[in-house]
Amino acid sequence: MSKAHALPLIENKPAVPKEFNKIARRYDLATFLNQGYSEDLRLSAKRMGLRGDERVLDLCCGTGKSTRACLEALPNGQVVGVDFSEGMLSVARENLLATYGERVSFQLQDAMALDFPDESFDAIYMAYGIRNMSDAEACLRQLYRLLKPGGQVCFHEYSLAERWYARPYWWVLGYGFVVPFCTVLTGTSRIFRYLIKSVDRFLRPTAFVQALERTGFVRASAQPLPFWRAPILHTFRAYKPEHPPAAGK
Ligand SMILES: C[S@@+](CC[C@H](N)C(=O)[O-])C[C@H]1O[C@@H](n2cnc3c(N)ncnc32)[C@H](O)[C@@H]1O
Repeated sequence: MSKAHALPLIENKPAVPKEFNKIARRYDLATFLNQGYSEDLRLSAKRMGLRGDERVLDLCCGTGKSTRACLEALPNGQVVGVDFSEGMLSVARENLLATYGERVSFQLQDAMALDFPDESFDAIYMAYGIRNMSDAEACLRQLYRLLKPGGQVCFHEYSLAERWYARPYWWVLGYGFVVPFCTVLTGTSRIFRYLIKSVDRFLRPTAFVQALERTGFVRASAQPLPFWRAPILHTFRAYKPEHPPAAGK
């Protein structure tokens, strides 16, 4: 076993995409059985309030469920899906290219080292992605660079509400249902045990909003998803100013 593999994933986030390779062919089944998964992605995409003709980056697009949510919110727009797992991307291509043609494209890239020119996108959507970054604030700075002035960033992410019961609720849900159920479906538990821990350690909504503001985003907000997801899952939105301060100011 290599040293990197011996490390728990929570200490080795760059290894997360490789772990997704192993479950890529079962990911859609596992999420299909998760009540509301696609509906929630559509709701967060709808909350962006897009005009419908924008160019959007779907970062950490996985098998394309979040990409589809963006495309549905954009009848005349384009979506570029980026992920660092070749396995997940190949399922995304199979799922979407035939239906959406030139409106969608996919690229294999590391979200911590994105290779796009400044101001490439009108909006950026990142569903279940920012929590996986080895340095979330460094990633936010890249997203700021990639957005056009006035552009919007939207995160759909597990972030435990500032309520005493949110953490025990997540543990029961995670270790009682998600880990056993998804392990049976995919044949591996490593990525799901990581999921539970990474959510536990991720920033609470107020702290993530503050991180967005520190990066220079304005009008940052957090909104819970409905029903039983409200204590654990949020849509975060923020904007790059129309007139960003000059670099270094
Ligand atoms: C939970 S999946 C979410 C997929 C999709 N957004 C959805 O909502 O169904 C997380 C994805 O993040 C990708 N990922 C993790 N770290 C990454 C990185 N550094 N760069 C790009 N993608 C990454 C994984 O490969 C995986 O496909």
